[in-house]
Amino acid sequence: MSNETIIDEYKRIIDSVKFVSEGKNEPNLKDFQDSKKIFNHIKNVYELFYTGDTTPVHMTIGFTNYCQHKCPWCYINWQQAGRTSERSGAGDINRKAINASDRLIDGVGEAAAIGLKAVTIVGDGEPTLHKKFVEYLKRLKSFNLDIGMFSNFSFDKKEILYAMLENCFFIRASLDSAKKEYHDKSHGNDDFDKVINNIKDLLKLRGEKKFPIIGAQYVTNTENYKDLPYAAEFYKNLGVDYMTIKPMLKNDLNIAHK
Ligand SMILES: C[S@@+](CC[C@H](N)C(=O)[O-])C[C@H]1O[C@@H](n2cnc3c(N)ncnc32)[C@H](O)[C@@H]1O
Ligand code: SF4
Repeated sequence: MSNETIIDEYKRIIDSVKFVSEGKNEPNLKDFQDSKKIFNHIKNVYELFYTGDTTPVHMTIGFTNYCQHKCPWCYINWQQAGRTSERSGAGDINRKAINASDRLIDGVGEAAAIGLKAVTIVGDGEPTLHKKFVEYLKRLKSFNLDIGMFSNFSFDKKEILYAMLENCFFIRASLDSAKKEYHDKSHGNDDFDKVINNIKDLLKLRGEKKFPIIGAQYVTNTENYKDLPYAAEFYKNLGVDYMTIKPMLKNDLNIAHK
């Protein structure tokens, strides 16, 4: 790529993300997953290239290593995770669940002080199960960060919805299906209606506001890919902003994937 092309590309990206600096009132979904967004962080790329080190721009963190769902295809090596007695294929029942502590949030605050811009909450389990989920979300927001998160949306407490609404930049619901039978089977739980109602409630609470951007994720396998067109229509009618389709990855260390 010539220097002119790089500069033009850089300008185009700066234009496309203006909504972030101008009050975040017009999310540009075309650029939401733009593979060229690294151009927004040229200074860090330059620093990394010439010194071998730079400060973080984005961090991915987790709050828990346990989950109320039991997706057999989940990349997590559940026989090494906490609360294994609640998992199919569980190994050591004596292993304790891991919960993020205040120190993790303090650490993110320290990273924010040296330039961190965004954090995504994913992890090896379901983040909304953490007892301090609401408190942690508020603290992360107090560092002036953009917060993204993934969830299976199987929660009962309404304060979780309010915390998402008030603090998140984007929220992605991991659904992987659009039919109760398949969701029950592939997520190992009987809560499809609750999950969908939570998404509906969040969309209703957000109303006309543009944030948080709310998406549905569909991890495909040899069974559920046939339902993709139906799922796309279902999610559209639900009113989410976008749908992500990803391949299911195999974890060779996970006995459930054998
Ligand atoms: C491990 S989950 C943790 C957060 C939360 N429990 C959830 O499901 O959104 C994070 C994301 O990884 C995806 N995922 C899990 N196992 C996967 C696999 N084997 N291949 C591809 N994506 C996977 C899930 O669909 C989810 O969107
Ligand atoms: S809901 Fe998320 S963490 Fe839980 S089993 Fe499924 S993919 Fe894994």
